Amino acid sequence: MPVPAKAFYLTTPIYYVNDAPHIGHAYTTVAGDLITRWHRQRQESVWYLTGTDEHGQKVMRTAEANGVSPHEWADRLVETAWKPVLETLDVANDDFIRTTEPRHIERVQAFVQDLYNKGEIYAGSYQGPYCVGCEEYKLPGDLIDGVGEFAGQRVCPIHGYPVEMLAEQNYFFKMSAYQDALLEHYERFPEFVQPASARNEVLAFVRQGLQDLSISRSTFDWGVPIPWDTSHVLYVWFDALLNYVTAVGQGSVDPDDVALFARTWPADVHLVGKDILRFHAVIWPAMLMAAGLPLPGRVFAHGWLLVGGEKMSKSRTTGIAPSQIIDTFGSDAFRYYFMRAIPFGQDGTFSWEDLAARYNAELANGLGNLASRVTAMVGKYFGGLLPAAGAPSDAEQALADLAARAVVDAEAAIDRLAIHEAIAAIWTLVEATNGYLTEQEPWHVAKDAAECSPGGRLATILVAAAEALRALAVLLHPVTPKAAQALWAALGAEAALGTLGAQPIARAGEFWQLAAGSTVTKGAALFPRLDDVDAAAG
Ligand code: MSP
Repeated sequence: MPVPAKAFYLTTPIYYVNDAPHIGHAYTTVAGDLITRWHRQRQESVWYLTGTDEHGQKVMRTAEANGVSPHEWADRLVETAWKPVLETLDVANDDFIRTTEPRHIERVQAFVQDLYNKGEIYAGSYQGPYCVGCEEYKLPGDLIDGVGEFAGQRVCPIHGYPVEMLAEQNYFFKMSAYQDALLEHYERFPEFVQPASARNEVLAFVRQGLQDLSISRSTFDWGVPIPWDTSHVLYVWFDALLNYVTAVGQGSVDPDDVALFARTWPADVHLVGKDILRFHAVIWPAMLMAAGLPLPGRVFAHGWLLVGGEKMSKSRTTGIAPSQIIDTFGSDAFRYYFMRAIPFGQDGTFSWEDLAARYNAELANGLGNLASRVTAMVGKYFGGLLPAAGAPSDAEQALADLAARAVVDAEAAIDRLAIHEAIAAIWTLVEATNGYLTEQEPWHVAKDAAECSPGGRLATILVAAAEALRALAVLLHPVTPKAAQALWAALGAEAALGTLGAQPIARAGEFWQLAAGSTVTKGAALFPRLDDVDAAAG
């Protein structure tokens, strides 16, 4: 039997269900969706996983404050907020894992039991500060002085809240034993932690020396019971990190799960926010080493969306719901804006003004106007049927060369996870095509009846511009899927070339693929202009 190709497997963090998603969460999910859609467009096999992190004190306390059980609370948030937001954002995930699902709980228990049997886990006692917001054991040096109502107390630098002092009997994972192996791995695989700033942070942290990790709690019960001592539940991060393997079948003997695991693991990319880098670049690989499982290819830490210079968050009441933006601008514009405007890996500040300005300049005027002009001219001069092109001149060749280069540059940028650079490379084609039309002045050429027959100069210009739009539809399919699909339909490309999803990225830049006689329609504007920015932001 042929062995199925290894899928490109990418994950998002699984999100806490203590609250509804804001645009910071959407940012990670959209980035993952763009990258996985790109790999699908390459005609690769892909697996894209996202989901929710439902155990632990943070979720338990939110449920208590709302007067319902943690399970009821999680169900409510997943069904009314976390699953619907994927549709709002136009995300094409292959699976959605919830840590309260039996498949996850059973496989997590099997995993920890195996580590226990191997002598990787021992009983001990823990005393120290804990931040429920981070669900993290802190070191005294991690904390900062509180301000305002918390003046005089030591607080978590991320949440700004006081930490709690724990003194408990816990089970410990022998993480310190993996310090050298981790350092060796970072050395051998420099791409394992990215970008460089994240790698440096992790190296410095591990070189300082690793402690063993407390992996159980006994003062509350909202978690996965430790199989050999059910008076304890597993530490929520140990439970959550395992979603990346449980969701693809690790620990199951069902043949479909075994096959899925073989096809997906190890993951190619774990996308994470920089706040949760250490969990993914230190604890997670140590857990996998202890279990004898292969390590993922890359952990990529992106930056934060900032509001007033601080991480956007619900606990600081600075969260903006994705729908607040999408209701006005649409999901394509949301995806485009955040992926284009913020260099992936760095922090970025969201502003309504910047979003509206880019929407109008780049999407409505740059791309949308280009598409409507070209399709309208095919309608006006050739009755809506794409004419046969004549022999290309240097100008068409230059445009075709630029398209080919845009594809190569965008491909390379995606491989580096430099999403903003990939979009910038694609945009060189939008700009070049607008420049090409300005120079060639097809509306002027149209005045000369001799140039208007099929194979004439007017036909060649319009077909070249249509070819650039065809290339853009393919390249933008992962970025702005709805507009790309509309463009593909407007070009009437499907009849001769097949579905948009079936067009390999590598060939997108090759000109003269559209068939003469294809029905070209102007259709609705891809990105209607927003004239009143204030009304849009309102
Ligand atoms: N449940 C853990 C992750 C477990 S993964 C095994 C968690 N959840 S979270 O909901 O608090 O945050 C998840 C992710 O949301 C962050 O790592 C980050 O990717 C994203 N973001 C949350 N706020 C963000 C911003 N303000 N800006 C950008 N991304 C942000 O941590």
